[in-house]
Formats: sequence, structure tokens, C-alpha cells
Amino acid sequence: MSDWGRYIWFDGKLIPFEDARIHVMTHSLHYGVGVFEGIRAYRTDNGRTAIFRLYEHVDRLLLSANAYKLEIPYTRDEIAEAIIEVVRKSGFDDCYIRPIAFINATKLGVRPPTRRASLAIGVFKWGKYLGEAYYKGARVITSHWRRPPSDSLPMNSKATGHYINSYLATIEAHMKGFDEAILLDSRGFISEGPGQNLFIVKDTKLITPPLHASILPGITRDSIIKLARRELGIGVLEEDITLGMLYSADEAFFTGTATEVTPIVEVDGVPIGDGKPGKVSKRLQKLYEDVVRGRLPEYEEWLTYV
Ligand SMILES: Cc1ncc(COP(=O)(O)O)c(C=O)c1O
Repeated sequence: MSDWGRYIWFDGKLIPFEDARIHVMTHSLHYGVGVFEGIRAYRTDNGRTAIFRLYEHVDRLLLSANAYKLEIPYTRDEIAEAIIEVVRKSGFDDCYIRPIAFINATKLGVRPPTRRASLAIGVFKWGKYLGEAYYKGARVITSHWRRPPSDSLPMNSKATGHYINSYLATIEAHMKGFDEAILLDSRGFISEGPGQNLFIVKDTKLITPPLHASILPGITRDSIIKLARRELGIGVLEEDITLGMLYSADEAFFTGTATEVTPIVEVDGVPIGDGKPGKVSKRLQKLYEDVVRGRLPEYEEWLTYV
């Protein structure tokens, strides 16, 4: 159990981690119908812990539930309060928070007996998602698997079933000895990583794939777009990116709650720029770290102290 917080919030109650159980014949386990979030809380420089962009994450959870016609029987504020309570009770300073809503019914058949979801919220310690690559830059490959098109799945939502596609790309990269994969969309343009968005830097501009490229609209992506424009005065375009554009980019980096800002230094054996973490990537990595640690008062509204 080690790094898990001692309590799980489960359908309205805080219960010991060991007691938060479901049956093996649970509908959602079989059919991949569930929606979730990944949120981080950080110890800020004033010693207090703050959850980063909590309300945007709760809103996306509700949006995802809506896309899958799941009914979460709690309001936005009740969910936010529950998340704060789990973090507070954990005693953790830096931690990762995982709310998940799913059909908790032991009935098989794709049509669920109810669309009313159970909601569970767990919390644990999670270091750098891509390990040393955060500092050294990630070596990545383009996956053979493509991100599903938006007329197959609502790709703007964060649903458990979407991650079987992410899983395939992730293990492909790891089995070949790389840090991470990049997936193309069904048209052949760059979409995103298995659990992170992607940016390239070209001629002092940032370019990131648009929503129609089957991406999850990342909250870190949104933060980086705003920080790049406001703090660094850099232009940001949301435009289709070809593989050729990625190979010839000056820099590239991933963004995500788990991944934070992680430079990409090689794609399919091709070094990006000079093959080292780029200047703009490093500046944005540092700026993001400063914001989540509460060092920039202008961004206090993104922090919810627990
Ligand atoms: C597929 C996918 N894309 C992008 C992201 C980045 O989203 P965010 O920055 O909101 O964590 C994530 C992580 O949640 C993800 O799983």
C-alpha cells in the first residue's frame, strides 16, 4: 500500500484504504465505462499545500460524465470539498489525486442496470511521471496505434476505456526501450502522448495540436498556453502538426498533470534541435513549477489551499 493516503472517499464517506473494495463482476471493470481525473497538489513556498486548478478538474470530470451519460450524484462544490478533505486527511504535502466515477453494479451485459455512478477519490505520492526524462528530456517513438477519431469516442473526455489505447502505445514504447510514445490522430497528424499533450517550438512560436486532433484538452496545456503568452510574450498556435514538423522543430515538450512540463529530445531516433532540453521548454518547466508552488501571486486563483 505504501504511498497511498490512508483514506479513500467513497460515495460520501471517508473510509480506510483497505476497505474501499468493489466486486470482480462490476460492470465498469468489464466494459471500461468510467470517467476520472488526475490532479496534483503541491506544497507551496508558504508551507501550505494547494491543489492546482481544482475546479477546472472537477468541471472536466462532470463534462466527461456527461459525455458518457453517467450521473454523478454530487454537485461541483461537493466534489471539490470531498477532494480537499481527502488531501487534508492524507497529511501529504505533494500528492496526486485520483477521483473516479464508475458503474458499481454486478450486472453484466453492456446496457448498465443504472447510469448513476459511484464516486471514489484516492490520493497518493507520485514523483516524476517520466522519471529522469523530466531533467534529461524524453526519448520517444511514434506509436503504431492511432488515437481514435472523435466520431468513435468523445476524445475530449477522460474516460477509463480510452486508456486501453494509451496502454498499447505506452507498452510499445517501453518494450522498445523508449521513455514514451506519441500517437497520431486518424488523419495522420500529431495528436498527443498516451497521458500528456504535446507542444513544439518553431521560430520562437509554440504550436500545439488543436482539439479536433483527438486530444484531451489538458489543463496543463491551457496553463502553458496562458503562461507562454502572458509571461514570456510568445505566440501560441493551436494547429495541426505533421510528423515532419515535429522532426524539424527547434524544441518539443510534453505537458500534463502527472508529466508536468517534460522536454522531448528525440523522436523516432531523430534528435529534436540539438538533442538536449530546449531553452523555451526549460523556461516553461520552471515557470510552471513556480506557479504550482505559489511563487507567482498573479496565479493564486489557480490554487486551492487545503
Ligand atoms: C490522454 C491525455 N492527454 C492529455 C493529458 C493532460 O491533461 P492535464 O494537463 O489536464 O493533466 C492527460 C492527463 O490527464 C491525458 O491522459
